[in-house]
Amino acid sequence: MKGDPVLERAARRFGTPFYLYDFEVIEARVSALSAALGPRFELAYAVKANPSLGILSFLRKFGLSSDVASRGELLAVRRAGWPPSKILSTGPAKSDADLEALVRAGVSIIHAEGEWELERLEQIGRRLRRRIAVGLRLNPPWGIAEKRVMIGGPGAKKFGFDLKSAQRILRMRRRFPHLEVCGFQVFNASNVLDARLLVENTRRVLSLALSLSKKYSVPLRSVDFGGGFGVPYAEKEKPLDLGILRKGLAGIAKWAAGESRFRGTRLVFEPGRFLVAESGTYAVKVLGTKRSRGVDYVLVDGGVHHFLRPLLLGTPHRVRLVPGRIGGRPRPASRSQKSLVLAGPLCTSLDILHPAARLPLPVRGDLLAFENAGAYGFTESMPLFLSHEWPAEVGVRKGRLALLRRPPRVADLQARQKTPF
Ligand SMILES: Cc1ncc(COP(=O)(O)O)c(C=O)c1O
Repeated sequence: MKGDPVLERAARRFGTPFYLYDFEVIEARVSALSAALGPRFELAYAVKANPSLGILSFLRKFGLSSDVASRGELLAVRRAGWPPSKILSTGPAKSDADLEALVRAGVSIIHAEGEWELERLEQIGRRLRRRIAVGLRLNPPWGIAEKRVMIGGPGAKKFGFDLKSAQRILRMRRRFPHLEVCGFQVFNASNVLDARLLVENTRRVLSLALSLSKKYSVPLRSVDFGGGFGVPYAEKEKPLDLGILRKGLAGIAKWAAGESRFRGTRLVFEPGRFLVAESGTYAVKVLGTKRSRGVDYVLVDGGVHHFLRPLLLGTPHRVRLVPGRIGGRPRPASRSQKSLVLAGPLCTSLDILHPAARLPLPVRGDLLAFENAGAYGFTESMPLFLSHEWPAEVGVRKGRLALLRRPPRVADLQARQKTPF
């Protein structure tokens, strides 16, 4: 079994566990997806997938827009140099402070998801004497069913307005003189691997936006189709067919070109996962193995407190064994594979990084590398649980390793607490 020099170097330099993001993979995904979307569609990175400042400032250089869901994400993209004209915002429960920060920053459009958000935005607009560009996030009764519910697929969910509510809002929008309702957003499903479904969904969303625009005289400054471009997590899953996507979207762009209401309309996709998931690896070190009633356990120095996604969604990530070195050479791993439970240090049986990984039995000091951990990885986790040290986040580009986030030490986190009683 071959070693993995970059992972091994990162382990020596930063210690385990750690996250490693390969910036060349990010660059390749950006250019592949941009080519598939073609010139008519705009690409806006959904910051929630991975809000690392190093990744944001790298993505900005490709001219992408960005989608933010909180004022923290807004701060991150502003720090990474994004101009407000290239920032959109979507999120199901934005606080007054979030809304005001977005308005003050002058982001290009805020997608409202509830009537109260419109009311709050109207108050903010009146107070700041600004007219605010607003899109309505819609939750139509059709869409793409998800294998694992993340966004919700068709049907009732917490996001956006159902069509009845949206139409009521459109009829009474004069109540909001400081708001210009000028767009729509629909995001139905995440991690979709069937390009045909994504194309069909895009066509339906655009038709819906067009019919609402005609019926209620809504100018279409932007139509936003959300994210959802999937990546294969399981062995047998096939990657998204970008050829089908390109052809389908080119057809839609041609149709849109013949419709005067779409003249000047931004047609936006806001993917997160597709751009960053495959760049990321969560690497842990093997502390020891044991057999318990016929089951082989591998105990490692990281767990679901750093990498919750496999447990949260019940979908294990692919994992590789990187054997430790003896005398500078990778120790050959045994050839025989076993079914192994990969378990972390938390005091709960839920702390399982993989329930049945097929790998040779590792030994203490080997590394295990969980793949596709670049999206919804560390930031979707719960690093305070059990007070273990946080993983470093490291980038690699053209063989050069660089620290992206120096993890706070547990002692520093404790020093910020008070003991008033
Ligand atoms: C509003 C919105 N846009 C975009 C995304 C990104 O989705 P994905 O990572 O599936 O592309 C999400 C994910 O939750 C979202 O909530």
